[in-house]
Amino acid sequence: MASSSCLKIFYTFLLLTILLEGACATTCDLSSLRITQTITTRQVAGKPEYEVNVSNWCACAQSNVRLRCAGFKTVEKIDPAVLKQDNEFCLLLSGKPLKQNADVQFRYASDTPYNFTVASSKIQCN
Ligand SMILES: *[C@@H]1O[C@H](CO)[C@@H](O)[C@H](O)[C@H]1NC(C)=O
Ligand SMILES: *[C@@H]1O[C@H](CO)[C@@H](O)[C@H](O)[C@H]1NC(C)=O
Repeated sequence: MASSSCLKIFYTFLLLTILLEGACATTCDLSSLRITQTITTRQVAGKPEYEVNVSNWCACAQSNVRLRCAGFKTVEKIDPAVLKQDNEFCLLLSGKPLKQNADVQFRYASDTPYNFTVASSKIQCN
C-alpha cells in the first residue's frame, strides 16, 4: 500500500516535470529575450553613450545568448565577460546562463544607436 502510493507520487512528479519542460520549451522563443536601450547623459570620446538592457522573460534560464552584431562599433570598451564581439555575433555573459527574470546591461558609445537583435540562445529548463 505505502509503496504503491509512493510510486504514484513519483509518477505524478515525473509527469509534471515532463509537462513543465514541454511547456517551457514551447513557450520560450527568441522573443522571450527582450532588448531595450536608452541614451544616457554621458558622452565618450565625443559620442553619445547608450545603455542596452537584455532581460529574460522565459521561465527558464537561457545560456549561449548571441546577439547580431554585424557592423557594430563602439568607442567605449565593453567588458568582454558581459559582451564579447566576434564579427557578426556578440556573445552575452561568455555564454553563461541568464536566469529567469534576470537582466544584464552594457553600455556603448557611437554616433548612432545600434539595433541589437537576438540571434540564438539555448533554453535550459530543469
Ligand atoms: C531591464 O529590463 C527589465 C525588464 O524589462 C527591467 O525590469 C529592469 O529594471 C531593466 N533594468 C535596467 C537597468 O534598465
Ligand atoms: C531593428 O531590427 C528589427 C529586426 O531586423 C526590426 O524589426 C526593427 O524594426 C528594427 N528597429 C529599428 C528601430 O530599426
